[in-house]
Amino acid sequence: MDESKFVVVANRLPVDRTVKPDGTAGWRRSPGGLVTAIGPVMRSRDGAWLGWAGAAGEKLDPFTEEEMALVPVPLSAEEVELYYEGFSNTTLWPLYHDVIAPPVYKRRYWDAYVAVNRRFAEAAAGVAAQGAMVWVQDYQLQLVPAMLRQLRPDLRIGFFLHIPFPPPELFHQLPWRRQIIEGLLGADLVGFQRPGAAANFLRLARRLLGVRTQGSCAYVEDRVVRAQAFPISVDVGELARLTARPTVWRRAAEVHAGLSASKILLGVDRLDYTKGIRQRLQAFGELLEDGELKPGEAVFVQIATPSRERVEQYQLLRDEIEQLVGRINGMHASIGTPVIHYMHASYDREELAALYLAADVMVVTPLRDGMNLVAKEYVACRADLGGALVLSEFAGAADELRQAYLVNPYDIDGLKRSLLAAIRAEPEDVARRMRAMRRRVTQHDVDRWAQDFLTALEVAPAP
Ligand code: ADP
Ligand code: F6P
Repeated sequence: MDESKFVVVANRLPVDRTVKPDGTAGWRRSPGGLVTAIGPVMRSRDGAWLGWAGAAGEKLDPFTEEEMALVPVPLSAEEVELYYEGFSNTTLWPLYHDVIAPPVYKRRYWDAYVAVNRRFAEAAAGVAAQGAMVWVQDYQLQLVPAMLRQLRPDLRIGFFLHIPFPPPELFHQLPWRRQIIEGLLGADLVGFQRPGAAANFLRLARRLLGVRTQGSCAYVEDRVVRAQAFPISVDVGELARLTARPTVWRRAAEVHAGLSASKILLGVDRLDYTKGIRQRLQAFGELLEDGELKPGEAVFVQIATPSRERVEQYQLLRDEIEQLVGRINGMHASIGTPVIHYMHASYDREELAALYLAADVMVVTPLRDGMNLVAKEYVACRADLGGALVLSEFAGAADELRQAYLVNPYDIDGLKRSLLAAIRAEPEDVARRMRAMRRRVTQHDVDRWAQDFLTALEVAPAP
């Protein structure tokens, strides 16, 4: 494979290896916001994307898929367990999301994290052309910037964290806190979703490593590292094209007609304990129980993509949600008319767009979320100005989507009030809010996000 002037390094490739029922291998889009955001950026730049293809122990040659040059980085079954399920998703994920679940600190997890980060750094060093720009993504690869700089001091290295970055009071729990900050400081530019996260990082660099900082800059030996917020967004053009298709409109109408309720509430998430799925279903269930909502007045559609299914907290969550759905339906459904439609599945973009169009109220209630692209996708799809957004104040998107019905998802009574207000809102009010939110999202789409980040990286002092 030729060397590339632009290289993206992420834990996952944008496609996952799957085996079809007939035994043949194929590819399907990987879940999550990172792929949604970086996919369009990659297609518009002639770069290479390094990442894991999603199956353990598989060594694959570089290949092209969906117009992107992809370079698989292999992970053994043990590394999937210790680096991906372990350090990434049992240690860092809960620690960075306000310790909603208790983080687990195991030295074996850490050792695997170091080894896999080194493999990614070596792979990136192998494909990057002289002076290339390398953009490292997310919490799974925080050591890569420093490792890569050691191997290839000629590169311009950017890092973007898609999830929240915790305050020092929480980050200090991490036994390997210094190493993580040192790893990130290997980049020329470290991007975060929110300004508070960048400030947390600079504070930690000062406190843990004695690094001098001024404004958004940290001074590390003879280098300047900038830390700044770049709120990520969605591909507004792609969603506009999708929602303009008659097949999508027809499907949305069909979904609405097929549900025997006047209003549809919709949740779309990876099945993750950070997403506040329990809280939203509980609030909905209580509204039915209190008689404030009648079955037939509103129905809840919850789509939950399977995610990290071998991690214990995710298994517990699945049981909890499925039990809750069963309980609420058991109390309020009648034959053929459940009050909650729960699908544990991943949907294609067209079906998702149709659901966004069909939904009268989009319910996005994370307990903590770096950004939450589902909220922005909903807004991007609603050119008709219909649809109300109920949005957690703990999602990064709440900084921008101020006209949503903002909620504290821990406050079930407040959530119930906001759900009712959104269900009963006058169409003029719904349109006024949606118009303002659309202005923001259309002016700040994913292209602009990538432009802003890459321009800032380009103007960073040369290595
Ligand atoms: P996260 O990165 O934590 O998964 P985001 O809301 O930022 O959360 O991004 C989720 C992305 O995954 C969105 O682009 C959304 O459309 C997609 N997605 C979420 N749930 C599903 C689903 N059930 N089927 C298909 N795509 C989904
Ligand atoms: O945006 C957060 C994120 O963890 C991404 O890094 C990741 O690709 C996505 O969510 C989905 O998670 P996973 O790759 O663990 O399935």
